[in-house]
Amino acid sequence: MAQELDWGSLPFGYVKTDYNVRCYYRDGKWGPIEVSDSDTINIHMAATALHYGQEIFEGLKAFRGVDGKIRIFRLEENAKRMRSSAEGLLMQPLPEDIFREMCLKVVKLNERFVPPYGTGASLYIRPLEIGLSPRVGVKEADEYLFLMLVTPVGPYFKGGFQNTNICIMRGYDRVAPLGTGRFKCGGNYAASLASGKKAHDLGYSAVLFLDPKEKKYLDECGPANFYAIKDGKYITPASDSILPSITNMSLMDLCADMGIPVERRHITVDELESVSEAAACGTAAVCSPIGEIDDLDTGRKYVISKDGKPGPVTTEFYNRLNAIRLGECEDTHGWNTIVE
Ligand SMILES: Cc1ncc(COP(=O)(O)O)c(C=O)c1O
Repeated sequence: MAQELDWGSLPFGYVKTDYNVRCYYRDGKWGPIEVSDSDTINIHMAATALHYGQEIFEGLKAFRGVDGKIRIFRLEENAKRMRSSAEGLLMQPLPEDIFREMCLKVVKLNERFVPPYGTGASLYIRPLEIGLSPRVGVKEADEYLFLMLVTPVGPYFKGGFQNTNICIMRGYDRVAPLGTGRFKCGGNYAASLASGKKAHDLGYSAVLFLDPKEKKYLDECGPANFYAIKDGKYITPASDSILPSITNMSLMDLCADMGIPVERRHITVDELESVSEAAACGTAAVCSPIGEIDDLDTGRKYVISKDGKPGPVTTEFYNRLNAIRLGECEDTHGWNTIVE
């Protein structure tokens, strides 16, 4: 029962909720939104999702605000990115108005699982689309299932907002130079599991991937984008092989509010010598400050945080984004959708 959940110590994991919502694409059109209380799906064993990786997903969050209202953060951007992922994998894109309706419906139906204000926890929304048609030859499906499930997740920083260390390993890539890095498809994550496990076993929170073509520039951090503060500027990689992070996009807008210049450009590994802050940013962590980056191939250690504490810009980003998502300050950018 939702009432018995210990909101503050929930992991980032699956907790069964009451309902999920589903929509099927058949005979050339999307059908009605269906509500299900089952957490399983029944699909053909030769479905393209299983054999040829026609699977895309998203991740966004709903928060209980200071005023008791539920806010979903930047759902339009997630809808757009999911459309782009669908196009990238030759899947049927879900119209953005249906995405919105499904999101509002699944949150409303599971309202009792939206964690209370002040717990640091939130309701994670996971949209998923899979190709259903049975295929033995490599070909796209003509039938699709789009579903949304929700699960309450605990605060990312259980011990408080703090630095973690990450590493560079040139022996692994998660995507190809002009491959699927821009899309949120399961295959990219399967390709990052082995290096992610190795990094965790060595005590790092993530791998900082380099560009897969030249291994010269910084790309992104496992399931998050990367940014650094250098000479008072916000710098973040421009790359075709990273996921365009909605959190990163939001931080760049906050930079404009805060008078911080932004540079989206190639960042070499050597430049890590001269940055004053670095962080991984994404829906899960908001912005997760990085203490040290260890290059496991060259043995070089880039100590970013000299005093072991999160830097002032990252701390300000973290506080501002949280305040907007929790309705503690005015949503001047119009990022929240209130669930009525
Ligand atoms: C590979 C990857 N990069 C970056 C991000 C951060 O994106 P967002 O800020 O939209 O959550 C994510 C998480 O969604 C991710 O999986």
